[in-house]
Amino acid sequence: MPGAIYAEGLVKNFGDVRALDGVDLDVPEGTVLGLLGPNGAGKTTSVRVLTTLLQADSGYAEVAGIDVAKHPNEVRRSIGLSGQFAAVDEYLTGRENLQMVGQLYQMPKAAAKQRAGELLEQFNLADAADRPAKTYSGGMRRRLDLAAALIVKPPVMFMDEPTTGLDPRNRQALWEVIQDLVKGGTTLLLTTQYLEEADHLAHDICVIDHGRVIARGTADQLKAQTGGERVEVVVHQRDQIESARDVLAVLGKGEVAVDDHTRKLTVPVLGGAKLLADVIRDLDERGVEIDDIGLRRPTLDDVFISLTGHEAEVSEPEDEAAAAAAAGKKETAK
Ligand SMILES: Nc1ncnc2c1ncn2[C@@H]1O[C@H](COP(=O)(O)OP(=O)(O)OP(=O)(O)O)[C@@H](O)[C@H]1O
Ligand SMILES: [Mg+2]
Repeated sequence: MPGAIYAEGLVKNFGDVRALDGVDLDVPEGTVLGLLGPNGAGKTTSVRVLTTLLQADSGYAEVAGIDVAKHPNEVRRSIGLSGQFAAVDEYLTGRENLQMVGQLYQMPKAAAKQRAGELLEQFNLADAADRPAKTYSGGMRRRLDLAAALIVKPPVMFMDEPTTGLDPRNRQALWEVIQDLVKGGTTLLLTTQYLEEADHLAHDICVIDHGRVIARGTADQLKAQTGGERVEVVVHQRDQIESARDVLAVLGKGEVAVDDHTRKLTVPVLGGAKLLADVIRDLDERGVEIDDIGLRRPTLDDVFISLTGHEAEVSEPEDEAAAAAAAGKKETAK
């Protein structure tokens, strides 16, 4: 039986750009899927198709068992969406924004009021609740938008980069809210460029790039695909990078990654602590001074690099205004 979110062969072209190139997804009820990918991978386009904001050119999708292309209105009644760019009414206060959403969903007034109060607490907005949203910072808007998506506790939720631009404390708070939701049986698709976030929250991860799913599995399965441990060395002087690279190329089991700026070299290895001792000995023999050295398990970043050949890009909060402007254009150019 297909899951609460199901897609098969979704294709979407924008002129010459193939934003989705045959995306398949299947998210069992009550689980979290992390859709992971760099800028332009097709994350938002996937979310927009699944939430009925955009029609795919071909392929099939259903949410909560309902065909998104045939019955968009019914789908909308079963889902909550927090988009990549916060959508709040500037002139209403935070509290009024939330109550308004409750009323749009035909919640009784008292229930909407109570739920709004709870969410304002959970998202650390209680102090600012009665100020117009136009006085909110970027992170506060983001949180208000997320709270709005949670007013009616829909069975299926979509969150497009929910934590981009949140500070660590608020990111942590959102993680807790998400974990509570999922305990309550909600199915969630979240997109992220924060690999540790997918690792932390998602039962399953789909990595997409250029509109295609290039890998899927649990965080552990994806890590296993990238091989075992890594040795990471920071050399003291830049002119010692080449000598260190030679040593690691001999002792390692794969390509040596070098970051010139931080003087850090990384290589996959087999052999654990014994091998680490060999690396230290050989570096010493070559006269390479070490600032830091260690053995670590692959991160999802390593997985990403090994799958796509490039690092996941993280959009900086400062870029948000420009990105939001660009997205505004995108929204109208359906
Ligand atoms: N309305 C549109 N018109 C033209 N091209 C579009 C439109 N929407 C998306 N695209 C293009 O489709 C591709 C996928 O975009 P999408 O927004 O899905 O990426 P994303 O994975 O969400 O990226 P990001 O991490 O930057 O949010 C990009 O090349 C983008 O420029
Ligand atoms: Mg996006």
